Amino acid sequence: MEAIAREEMTDEGWGYYSSAADDEVSMRENRTAFQRIFFRPRVLRDMSAVDTSTSLLGSPCAMPLYISACALGKLAHPLGEVGLTMAAGRQHIVHMLPTLASSSLEDMCGARALDATQWFQLYVNRDRAKTAELVQKAEQLGCKALAITVDAPLLGRRERDMRNKFSSEPPKVQKGAEIRRDGGTARAISAWIDPALNWNDLQWLASITRMPLILKGIQCSEDALLAARHPNVRAIVVSNHGGRQLDYARSGVEMLAEVMAALRSEGLQNRIEVYMDGGVRRGTDLLKCLCLGGRAVGIGRPALWGLASYGDAGVERVLEILKEELRMAMVMCGCKSIADIRPEMIDARSLQAHISTVPADRLFEINYRPLPLVSRL
Ligand SMILES: Cc1cc2nc3c(=O)[nH]c(=O)nc-3n(C[C@H](O)[C@H](O)[C@H](O)COP(=O)(O)O)c2cc1C
Repeated sequence: MEAIAREEMTDEGWGYYSSAADDEVSMRENRTAFQRIFFRPRVLRDMSAVDTSTSLLGSPCAMPLYISACALGKLAHPLGEVGLTMAAGRQHIVHMLPTLASSSLEDMCGARALDATQWFQLYVNRDRAKTAELVQKAEQLGCKALAITVDAPLLGRRERDMRNKFSSEPPKVQKGAEIRRDGGTARAISAWIDPALNWNDLQWLASITRMPLILKGIQCSEDALLAARHPNVRAIVVSNHGGRQLDYARSGVEMLAEVMAALRSEGLQNRIEVYMDGGVRRGTDLLKCLCLGGRAVGIGRPALWGLASYGDAGVERVLEILKEELRMAMVMCGCKSIADIRPEMIDARSLQAHISTVPADRLFEINYRPLPLVSRL
C-alpha cells in the first residue's frame, strides 16, 4: 500500500505523511526494534478456533488495534478522515479522530457506524475556552474517550515536509485563522497549540468532560507511573509520534517494555490500559506488543497509505491483512484468545541493545529474490 500511495500522492502530501524528525532515526528504529524480539511459541493446544476480539475502555472491538489520529486526511484522498472512519466501522475497530482533521467533526461522527467507537484526539489551544468548546462538541457528537497528545509542545522539525510550501486546505479547526505557508505543513497547522500544557491541566480537562482521559505520547516509566497514579487518567499511549517529534526518542515497543515492567513492579498494571504505536506493520508486531503487556496498538501511516491508494476500501484491506496476520501469529504461538497471550511467549532480551546486526549470509545474498513491489493495476 505504501508503494502505491507514493505513486498516487502529491509531493506535498507524501512529504508530510512520510516525514519524521531530523534524520528520521526514531522512525526507522520503530521498525528495527521489532526485529530484536523473537517468539517462544507453545504447541499442541487445539488451534481449530481463534478469537482476536477484545475491548478498549469498555468498548468491544474485533482486534486489539485502532487507527490513530493523523492530521489532514484529505492529503490522501477526498474522503479524508471519513474514509478512515468508514473502514474502521466496517472492521469493528476504534478510530481516534484528530483535532487537525481535514473533515469536520460533524462529518466524521456522522459517518460512524451504529455500533462503532470513536475517540477524539486533542491538541490543547492557548485559548482554553476554544478547547472546552471543541471537547464538549466531540462528546456531544458521541466520542467515547479524549486522547490528549502530550508529546507535542511544538511539532518536530521534519525537513522533508519543511521543503514544501503548504498549499492545501487547512484543518477545519483553523477556519478563518492566519496561516504561514512557507515552512511546510506541520508548521502551518500547529502555531496555536499551547506549549505550556502540563500535569496540572489534567484536572481541568477532566472537569470539562465525562469522557475518560487517555495520555498519548508517554515515553518513559517515570511519566507512566505519574499517569497511572493520576486520578483522572484511564489509559496511556506509549509512543514517539511515529518518530515525528524528537529524533533519537526510543521506539514505541522498547518504551512499552520499560513501562509495563515499572507498572508491574508498583502493582499498577491494571489501573490503566496501556496502548502503544509506532512502526506496527505486521500481525507479529502486534502480537509482540500484546506479549509485552500492551492492551492494543495504534497504526498511523498504514491506514493513510490504504486511504491514499484505494480510499476506504484500501484502509479496510490494510485492516483485514493485519487481522489475518495477527490470527495466524496467534495460531502459531498457541493463543486461542487475547487472554492466552503471555509475556513468556517472546524473547525480548535484545530489545534494549539498539543494535540490529545480522551476520552476512552469502548463500542468502546470492539466491534470495525479494518480492517485487506491487503497483496499481
Ligand atoms: C501524517 C501524520 C499525521 C499525524 N498527526 C497527528 C496528530 O494530529 N495528532 C497526534 O497526536 N498524532 C499524530 N500523528 C501520530 C500518529 O497518531 C501515531 O502516533 C503514529 O503515526 C504512529 O506511527 P506509525 O505511523 O508508524 O504507525 C500523525 C502521524 C502521521 C504519520
